[in-house]
Amino acid sequence: MQVKDLEFKKFITAKTIAEKVAGLAHKINHDYKDKTPVLLPVLNGSFMFAADLLKEIKIPCRVSFVKTSSYSGTTSTGQLKTLIGHDESLFNQHILIVEDIVDTGLTLEKIIEELRGLGAKSVEAITLLRKKPAREKQLDVKYVGFDLETEFVLGYGLDYDGLGRNYKDIYKQQEPPKAGQN
Ligand code: IMP
Repeated sequence: MQVKDLEFKKFITAKTIAEKVAGLAHKINHDYKDKTPVLLPVLNGSFMFAADLLKEIKIPCRVSFVKTSSYSGTTSTGQLKTLIGHDESLFNQHILIVEDIVDTGLTLEKIIEELRGLGAKSVEAITLLRKKPAREKQLDVKYVGFDLETEFVLGYGLDYDGLGRNYKDIYKQQEPPKAGQN
């Protein structure tokens, strides 16, 4: 399948994703029983994963979609993002961040730090996909769907230059990703 200048091929089917999502939800139903967590899907990429996951969550929970601003300043280490859109108090809440993909882990690290600063009772994360750099960094992600190497993927909420979020399967780029692509 061609998306703009890149060639992609099917990588993880909708059926395999659905099975994985059900398994992850099952663990959350068990671990967060009696905790009424706040699920915090990070837009845009996590919208499809979050919707499917939430349909399998049977315990009482709240949901609040958030976004990271493109930047709120720059530091020597790069862009400093802040969390926007959380509309209810997260103080004293059990928070579960819902991510589509964790690559270097920088975005997730910043979000966790900010939520801890807001006085959350606990902050954990679930990601459908986790790439090798985050794994090597040993960033603590409580629930992981699929572990990848460094391949560039799209579909099921994930995009390439804004395209491909609508596909129900996940596709992988045929060629190795070029620097600066994501
Ligand atoms: P990190 O801060 O390096 O972990 O980057 C995470 C963000 O980069 C994700 O939320 C995605 O928006 C984007 N991203 C990283 N890898 C991919 C990919 O393979 N496909 C699409 N987006 C990606």
